[in-house]
Amino acid sequence: MPKYFMPTMLLSGKNCIKRHPRHLVRDGKCMIVTGRKSAVLSGALADVTDVLDENNVEYEIYDKVTALTGISEIYALGMRMRESGVKYVIGIGGGTTLDVAKAAAVYAANDMQPMDIYKEHYKNDPLKVVCIPTTAGTGSDTTQYVMMSLDDVHKRRSFRSNKCFPYATFLDSRYTNTLPIEVTRHTAVDALCHAVESYLNTQASEFSDTVSLEAIRLIGSCKEALITGRVTEEDREKLLVAASSGGMAVAHTGLNVVHAMGHQLTCEKEIPHGRANGALLVEFLAWMRTHDIMRAVDVVTAFDSDLSSFKKFMDKVVPTPEEFTEADIDVFLQNSIVNTVRQNCPGDFTPEDERQIYVNALIEKRRKFNNW
Ligand SMILES: [Fe+2]
Repeated sequence: MPKYFMPTMLLSGKNCIKRHPRHLVRDGKCMIVTGRKSAVLSGALADVTDVLDENNVEYEIYDKVTALTGISEIYALGMRMRESGVKYVIGIGGGTTLDVAKAAAVYAANDMQPMDIYKEHYKNDPLKVVCIPTTAGTGSDTTQYVMMSLDDVHKRRSFRSNKCFPYATFLDSRYTNTLPIEVTRHTAVDALCHAVESYLNTQASEFSDTVSLEAIRLIGSCKEALITGRVTEEDREKLLVAASSGGMAVAHTGLNVVHAMGHQLTCEKEIPHGRANGALLVEFLAWMRTHDIMRAVDVVTAFDSDLSSFKKFMDKVVPTPEEFTEADIDVFLQNSIVNTVRQNCPGDFTPEDERQIYVNALIEKRRKFNNW
C-alpha cells in the first residue's frame, strides 16, 4: 500500500488565526517574515500581531522579501534570527516569502555555509515555521520544498527536506481579497499545474490522486470567475483550498516536466511563474494523450472541460503575448532541467518531445485541438 506523509497542521476558514491562537503562539521569540505590502494590505499581519500581543509573545518583523531576495540575504536573515534568540518563524505572503521563511529557519538552527542547504541533511531541526499564504497558488505552505534565488534572478534552485514542512498553516481566504486579478489568475493556474503534474506522475498514488483531482475540480469550478475577474468570496475559499491541496499532492509525488520547462520561461524571459507554467500545460496534456490517455481524460473531466475548451480557458486567463524564436527554444533546451523530473513523467519524455512542446506552445500558439 502507498504511504502518505503530511505533518503540517492545517487550519482554515475566516478568522482562523484568532480562532486557533494556540497554533500561532509558541514558546520564545518569533520572527515574522513578510514581503513589502501584502501582509499589511491583506490584514494578515495585524491579525498575527494582535494574537502575539495578547499572548505576550516577543517578536521582530522582517518585511523586506521581494522577488529578488537571494540566498545571501536569506542566510543573513537566518543569522539574525540566531543572534537575536528567535525560536520560531511566521511567514506571511506568497510563495517566495514562505520559502524565505522556510530556508532562513534552516540557517538559524544550523552552522553551515549558504550552499550547504542544498545537501538536504541538517544536523539540527530547522526552527518551526508557521505559514500564512496571501496568494492561492504556491503550495509552499504544505510542502517540504523550498525554491531560492542564487543571488542572480536568472538562477533559481530548489531543495527539499521532510524537516522543511511547515509546522502549521492558516488558510483564511480574506487575505487573498486584495490580490490584483492578474495575480489571482497566475497563482490559480500555478496551483492547477501542481495538481495536474501530480496526477500525471509516476509517483502518484490513491492518496495523492484524491487531493490532486479535488484541487483540479475546485479550480475548474472557478473558471468563469477567473475569466471575468468577478471572483467571489466563495471562489477565493475554493482557490485557497485548491492551492494547498495541490501542494499536498506535489509533496507526495514531486512535480513534472511542466514546471521544469516553465522554469526556463521565468529565468530567461522573466515570465511570472504561474503564467510560465500555464503556457505549457495544454501541450503537456496533449502529449499525455499518447502516453496515458485515461488519466489525461480524468484531468480535463475533473476540470469540467475538454481539451479544446481547456486551451481556450488558458488562452484567456494566462495568455502568452511574448514572441519566441527557435533560437530562444535552443537556449531553453541547453539549460534544460527536465532531467531532474524525467522519472516522474509517465512515458518516455525525450528531448525532442521537450522541443516540440515548446514549439507548439510558444511559436505555433494558435494550434487547434481535436477533442478525444
Ligand atoms: Fe509552482
